[in-house]
Amino acid sequence: MQRFIARRVLSGRGQFPRWLSHAAQKEASLHDNNGVVVPKIPPFDYSPPPYDGPSADEILAKRKQYLSPSMFCFYQKPLNVVDGKMQYLFDENGRRYLDAFGGIATVCCGHCHPDVIDAIVNQTKRLQHSTILYLNRAIADFAEALTSKLPGNLKVLFFTNSGTEANELALMIARLYTGCHDIISLRNAYHGNAAGTMGATAQCNWKFNVVQSGVHHALNPDPYRGVFGSDGEKYARDVQDLIEFGTSGNVAAFISEAIQGVGGIVELAPGYLPAAYSSIKKAGGLCIADEVQSGFARTGSHFWGFETQGVVPDIVTMAKGIGNGIPLGAVVTTPEIAEVLTRRSYFNTFGGNPVCTAAGLAVLNVIEKEKLQENAFIVGSYLKERLAALKDKYEVVGDVRGRGLMLGVELVTDRQLKTPAKTETLHVMDQMKDLGVLIGKGGYYGNVFRITPPLCFTKEDADFLVDAMDYSLAKL
Ligand SMILES: Cc1ncc(COP(=O)(O)O)c(C=O)c1O
Repeated sequence: MQRFIARRVLSGRGQFPRWLSHAAQKEASLHDNNGVVVPKIPPFDYSPPPYDGPSADEILAKRKQYLSPSMFCFYQKPLNVVDGKMQYLFDENGRRYLDAFGGIATVCCGHCHPDVIDAIVNQTKRLQHSTILYLNRAIADFAEALTSKLPGNLKVLFFTNSGTEANELALMIARLYTGCHDIISLRNAYHGNAAGTMGATAQCNWKFNVVQSGVHHALNPDPYRGVFGSDGEKYARDVQDLIEFGTSGNVAAFISEAIQGVGGIVELAPGYLPAAYSSIKKAGGLCIADEVQSGFARTGSHFWGFETQGVVPDIVTMAKGIGNGIPLGAVVTTPEIAEVLTRRSYFNTFGGNPVCTAAGLAVLNVIEKEKLQENAFIVGSYLKERLAALKDKYEVVGDVRGRGLMLGVELVTDRQLKTPAKTETLHVMDQMKDLGVLIGKGGYYGNVFRITPPLCFTKEDADFLVDAMDYSLAKL
């Protein structure tokens, strides 16, 4: 970061002064008390309408009174997000923030993308809900477009409202198809929080003490913390061991993310999925790819995360990015496997509703039209390179990983012991928010920055993010 001769403009610690308008922020090079240039958000030609609603404090008080105490917020002083436009969010005072978390890897086209809004509004005006008991073109058109993005015989879809629902359905389909109950998932995975998916989720802080039967958790092929480093095939041996020593020899399914999101952006060691899938197939099981976070062009190099390991799953589950924020999920499988659901009636009131599927189709079109996969690759590679340079500069940066616009930065207080730097992570996150950058946090220890912005992120945004992280790390 550039240093200049001291010029006192700021009175606080790295914050823009409240009195400075956005126009002035654009013009002025701000310096802190030590003469260090304060990173500045790239210019953007949009101002949200004025906000005259309740303040952050008032909303927080209402939330505390009326909503479940389980609901938590980021930041010491939670942010009241009022407006969104592409890769930016605006608070109650109209202050603009760079959104590098994308509503948890969900907003892929950009906040309030005009094409997605048009699709939602137009469909809502004509018909909002009817259920699949009647015909409507929205669900059929989206199903056709979405299955065209999948390889092999993955050509039949069932729509749900969330990732949890999609994974619940996938696990049930696998159990019905194989006649087996045992599922193998990975330690550190997150697949949802209903009865079956909580069993597949494998971090104790996301699991309640309720019955979760029939799931075995294999060693995580985590190149940074795992016992075998980046040797994917060695980790896959544990899947074979679980089959031989923990089951009847036959299993229903193996489920995994290609890049663990909640788990702290852990990209599975190379060679892992082909070897694990091979063991599962021999044991008669189905392979489920959970693409809830890594799907829809986020990895840049591929449209789906599983493609990075050259495998073709039997079932693919998706949500989040599929709808750019609209509640939508899906399970895709082969016609033969999908047949199991005809054994009984299976129904989902909202799944595949016209508004959500119209939005989904618009999202696919925007990804294509605006070349968002290519952008995720180019900007993501640039951002990763710049983040990696922070590792050379700060001992506290233990690892930089991920691909495309699904990146992680893990902070440790001791590089040898990999001691999680949890407090430092929270501190830097708060500092970055004050500078105007919102990033996510995850990993079992809560010491990994999760960077999963809208895929329209620019190189200038990437520079601002890294400069803000650099500035905040320097102050630790
Ligand atoms: C990989 C993965 N699968 C499933 C889910 C559950 O999705 P939802 O919160 O929509 O139920 C999540 C949520 O974060 C996820 O990251």
